[in-house]
Amino acid sequence: MDSREFAKTLEKQVSDFCKSLDGKLPAYSYIPLTLDETRIKVMQSRLFNEIRAGEIFGGWLKSTLELDVKKILAAAVHEEYVHAGFLETALQSRGAIPYDYKPLPAQMAMFNAFEGLTDTVERIAAFPMAGEGVADYLIAKSLNSGTVPSWVTEPYQRIHQDEAEHGNYPFEILVKYATTPEKQERAARAVAMSLLLRKQYFDDLDRWVFEGKSY
Ligand SMILES: [Fe+2]
Ligand SMILES: [Fe+2]
Repeated sequence: MDSREFAKTLEKQVSDFCKSLDGKLPAYSYIPLTLDETRIKVMQSRLFNEIRAGEIFGGWLKSTLELDVKKILAAAVHEEYVHAGFLETALQSRGAIPYDYKPLPAQMAMFNAFEGLTDTVERIAAFPMAGEGVADYLIAKSLNSGTVPSWVTEPYQRIHQDEAEHGNYPFEILVKYATTPEKQERAARAVAMSLLLRKQYFDDLDRWVFEGKSY
């Protein structure tokens, strides 16, 4: 398949997944939450994600042979720790200890799975395209909902702005590099894996936030 057509099929897969969340938004989106106590839990979980994202992007650097992608990943590492700083400040403003948090099982699995990917197109498809695509979809929703308090939306406004400035770089990387049936097959499977694990992470987070289930 032409690589641009292929990249469009992956984008459609991600946007279908996003729409499937609309009926019952996860705690991750902050929208169903009514107490700061629960918002703090979600933000702590998402702060862990920023730290882990930087680790994953940094860990991929040496084995990323495409210099243009390597540079993008290097900038992304720094950006994730800037995001972490925004969330730390917001949590501290509510009297919470930012890193008083233990990762949920599916959250660990999701990042460990990203870390294990070896090919540039599958990495970019799984994490920046599918993973961060879903995250940013829900950030946009929370910013527009009008019911999420400003101590939560303020840091995400800045995070959302960073994501917007990148344009659609995962799509362009796939157009450039997902040029063989083998690469396309691996990228498609990596997206499916990413979405499956994200759904499980959202479910784990819901159980912890709403039912207090910890592991
Ligand atoms: Fe990011
Ligand atoms: Fe981030």
